[in-house]
Amino acid sequence: MFLMFVLFCLCWWRLIGVFGDSVSVMEGDSVTLHTSVTKIRDDDDILWRFGAEKSLIAKISIENQIFSTYDDVPDGRFRDRLKLDNQTGSLIITNITTEHAGDYKLEINGAKLTSKTFSVSVYAPLPTPDITRNCSSSSSSSSSSSCSLVCSAVNVSHVTLSWYKGNSLLSSISVSDLSISLSLPLEVEYQDKNTYSCVLNNPISNQTQHLDITHLCHTCAGVPLYIVLISAAAAGSLVIVVVICCICRRCRKTVETQEEDRTDSSMCKPTTRQKKSKTESVYENI
Ligand SMILES: *[C@@H]1O[C@H](CO)[C@@H](O)[C@H](O)[C@H]1NC(C)=O
Ligand SMILES: *[C@@H]1O[C@H](CO)[C@@H](O)[C@H](O)[C@H]1NC(C)=O
Ligand SMILES: *[C@@H]1O[C@H](CO)[C@@H](O)[C@H](O)[C@H]1NC(C)=O
Ligand SMILES: *[C@@H]1O[C@H](CO)[C@@H](O)[C@H](O)[C@H]1NC(C)=O
Ligand SMILES: *[C@@H]1O[C@H](CO)[C@@H](O)[C@H](O)[C@H]1NC(C)=O
Repeated sequence: MFLMFVLFCLCWWRLIGVFGDSVSVMEGDSVTLHTSVTKIRDDDDILWRFGAEKSLIAKISIENQIFSTYDDVPDGRFRDRLKLDNQTGSLIITNITTEHAGDYKLEINGAKLTSKTFSVSVYAPLPTPDITRNCSSSSSSSSSSSCSLVCSAVNVSHVTLSWYKGNSLLSSISVSDLSISLSLPLEVEYQDKNTYSCVLNNPISNQTQHLDITHLCHTCAGVPLYIVLISAAAAGSLVIVVVICCICRRCRKTVETQEEDRTDSSMCKPTTRQKKSKTESVYENI
């Protein structure tokens, strides 16, 4: 009884070969769904159907001299996009869009009936993700030398967004159906010398943005403390230089006009020398 069942199954299997195939393709590309036939035989009928309604979109019958695509079914979405390979009967879909994602069923009616379903997924080309500094983030880490960053991608679906440190994955976030905006945070130290990158990928492609810490971490209103200090020192020394110049001009005038008054000039000269050396040391630090 069991043997009969197995034999029946084997016969059925031979009669209707059912195979499945997943095909991923980028929007705008062409895809060929292969029949695996090297040459169409004269008594073969080849049918291509699309979608849940199994709309007939292409038919080849050598006997009846039919070699046609029907690109107005189910709704004109295939217009000028279907081609048939006249040797193999393979279906070629050109300039594919997300509308053309779905199941394509191949039926070969010959000495035996063979069918095969191709599940076609269409992916939009990926944008390059953006890395920006999150200035509004009140750094949760205790260190004041850390920098909060956000990697983001707008209007994406069926993608994963990830942060990598060198080659190792730090974090990632995924989205399936909906076309939305994704963002993923990262906190780094200003002095961090590691290479970080943000990668947006779908099953067939990826886009990478490399992080430039020195560039990005200095663009916020809340700039790092040492930059504030250097700027303040620079501004301060400029004021001092201006003040000294004014004083000295006045001193020199005083010295020229009142040569006998020694106290004024002796007070002026050492001060000048001292302030100048201070200014120079500040510039050396910068
Ligand atoms: C197949 O198509 C090519 C051009 O696309 C043509 O040259 C050739 O004659 C065709 N073969 C058959 C058997 O129709
Ligand atoms: C591909 O399809 C898109 C959308 O239907 C259309 O705008 C574009 O012109 C097509 N490109 C080619 C090369 O046919
Ligand atoms: C920036 O950080 C703040 C506080 O941590 C957070 O609420 C906000 O969502 C972040 N912005 C982005 C774009 O991730
Ligand atoms: C988002 O994608 C849709 C189609 O997928 C498009 O019509 C729309 O213009 C896109 N919006 C942005 C901001 O890119
Ligand atoms: C991105 O794609 C390239 C091939 O285009 C591949 O070599 C690389 O491993 C991919 N990177 C990631 C992180 O998926």
